[in-house]
Parts: sequence; structure tokens; C-alpha cells
Amino acid sequence: MKIAVLPGDGIGPEVTREAIRVIEALDLGIALAEAPVGGAAYKAQGHPLPPAALAVAEESDAILFGAVGDPDCDRLDRHLRPEQAILGLRKALTLFANLRPARVFKGLEDHSALRPEVASAIDLLIVRELNGDVYFGEKGFRTAVDGSREGYDVMSYNEGEVRRIAHVGFRAAQGRRGKLCSVDKANVLETSQLWRDVVIDVARDYPDVALEHMYVDNAAMQLVRNPGQFDVVVTGNLFGDILSDQASMCVGSIGMLASASLGERQTAYGTYGLYEPIHGSAPDIAGKGLANPMATILSAAMLLRHSLGLADAADRIEAAVAATLEAGVLGRDLGGSAGTTEIGDAVLARL
Ligand code: IPM
Ligand code: MG
Repeated sequence: MKIAVLPGDGIGPEVTREAIRVIEALDLGIALAEAPVGGAAYKAQGHPLPPAALAVAEESDAILFGAVGDPDCDRLDRHLRPEQAILGLRKALTLFANLRPARVFKGLEDHSALRPEVASAIDLLIVRELNGDVYFGEKGFRTAVDGSREGYDVMSYNEGEVRRIAHVGFRAAQGRRGKLCSVDKANVLETSQLWRDVVIDVARDYPDVALEHMYVDNAAMQLVRNPGQFDVVVTGNLFGDILSDQASMCVGSIGMLASASLGERQTAYGTYGLYEPIHGSAPDIAGKGLANPMATILSAAMLLRHSLGLADAADRIEAAVAATLEAGVLGRDLGGSAGTTEIGDAVLARL
């Protein structure tokens, strides 16, 4: 078993280190291969996703990814910006299905931005499409009719792209509470009209799943009004990006949400995938030992479960995280004072 470790920028290396300590403590005989990506790779090698990093990722059974983003690089040509590392990996490896689970851990009810009785009902899974949408359409700058500069980004989805992510959403719902909410903006966008038509078509294969459709503005509102109504939410790349950050604050902190990005490739042990916290590189607190590593530790648990077939080990990590939180060991993002390694130590102690 081999994991590619791509720590990236900002707090990426710090939070990844804690997740690796957790994996190593379980003594599972997993080989690790590390490579720089993002702004760190650009500065060292002139490209945010050097061929060597992509090769390490391809040769592994799974990828543990930290975060990318570096203010020093915000003015570079877009294809050289740190974010291209994660976007490039998702695209090159056809990791089109991004699973972002959100639930309130015991002890965190009072830390949500929502009232505790509203927050404690949250147990949802966002299934975000990752390979299409306005993220990967034609984009650029051009001259508008009045001679001023204009920026543009084309949004599109084809039937095949919607179909494959819809299947992931329906299957996830079958394994949970049997409810799927497809989020779009079909009242305005043709891309969304096609999305909705295809989802309705795919639904015929899943008579056991209750499907509803919701416009994205309403979904954003419902997510704070009554998040307990959601089981699985399936949506496009841009809407999923936004709603998953919003869901994170509903459960307490963006420092808590893990994610798995999967495609169709199978490894000897499970499904090939990339695992990362949904938060970014947080340059303001980078290198200070203040970042909450929980989202990355939980991502490592998802990795063991989905890509390496080690469900028991994943359960153990998740139980240790839950026990740590219940004991009140909280990072600053949750109003506590525990630092990055202190949180890692607390999880290790409970393993
Ligand atoms: C995420 C991030 C990325 C995205 C950025 C870093 C490109 O916000 O994974 O949610 O927009 O997908
Ligand atoms: Mg995001």
C-alpha cells in the first residue's frame, strides 16, 4: 500500500504532518512518498504541479493532500498559480466525485454558527462534481464593445458528466437515509436545466431514493434554516464549492470538514482517490502551529476506508477524533486554545 503525500502551502504541511503521525501510529505497513505542490513547487521547480508530483500521485493507491494557495503567487498567470495543483490533479486523474460529509460531533453543538438545536441535526453529505462546470470552461479576458476590459468564464456540463455524478449521488443516498437533493439554478441557467433533466432520467434507476430539486439560492438558505432536512446533496463544481464551505460553519468550523475525491479507477484495495481538508492554506496562521488538523486527520480516515479497504482503522481514527473533541481539546477555530501538535497528540493518545 502506498500513499502520495502532497502537503502544499501554508498550513498544509502542518496539518498533513499530524495526519501522517496518526496513520503511522496504526502501523499498517503503508509506504509514503512525498512531493511538493502548489506555490512551494512553483518556487522550487517553476510549476505548481511538477511532472514528478503527478507521477508520485499516479503510482500510489491514494493521495493525501494538504492545501494550496500562496499570496506571493496571486499575480502569476493562471496556469502557474498554486490552485492549479489541485485542479490539475482532479482533472488529470479524473477524480470527478467529491464527497464532503458534514455532521456535528458531540461537544461541538455550541460552536456552530447556528443555534445548537438546529446544528445538532446536521448529518449530510455533499457530493460535488469536480471535473467540469465554469471551473474548466473556456476563460479569459477580452475587449468589451465599449472598449473596456471584460473577463469571461464559460459554464457547461455535458450529459455524461452529469450522469456519472448523479449515479454517485443516488448510490450514496441508498447507503444513507435514501434522500437525494439535487441543487441547480435551472430557473436561470441552461447548464442547470440539462443537469436537472439528466438527474431526473438517472432517478429511474433508483426508485428507492426520494429525489428533490432545489435552486442553489434556496439551498443556501435552507442550509442555515433547517440543515437537518438534508441527507445527500448532489451539485455542480461551483455550487458545491460554495455550499460546502457554508456547511462547514454550520457544523462548527471549516477546520473540521474532510473530503474524498474519487473516480472510477480501482486499486488492489479499493477506489483510487485524493483526500484533503476542504479548508485552504490559511497563510495568516501558517507556520505558527495554530491550525486545526482535524479535517486532515478525518481525510486520512476516509483514505484508509475508501482507497485501502481499512474500514476498522478508519473507524478507530474517527472514534479517537470524536473522543478528543468530546474531551474539549479544541483549536482556536472552535474557541479553544489547543495547537496543531497538541491536537495531534490528543488524538494519538486516544488511539
Ligand atoms: C476547495 C477549494 C478549491 C476549489 C480551490 C483551492 C481551487 O476551494 O477544494 O473547495 O475551488 O475547489
Ligand atoms: Mg472551496
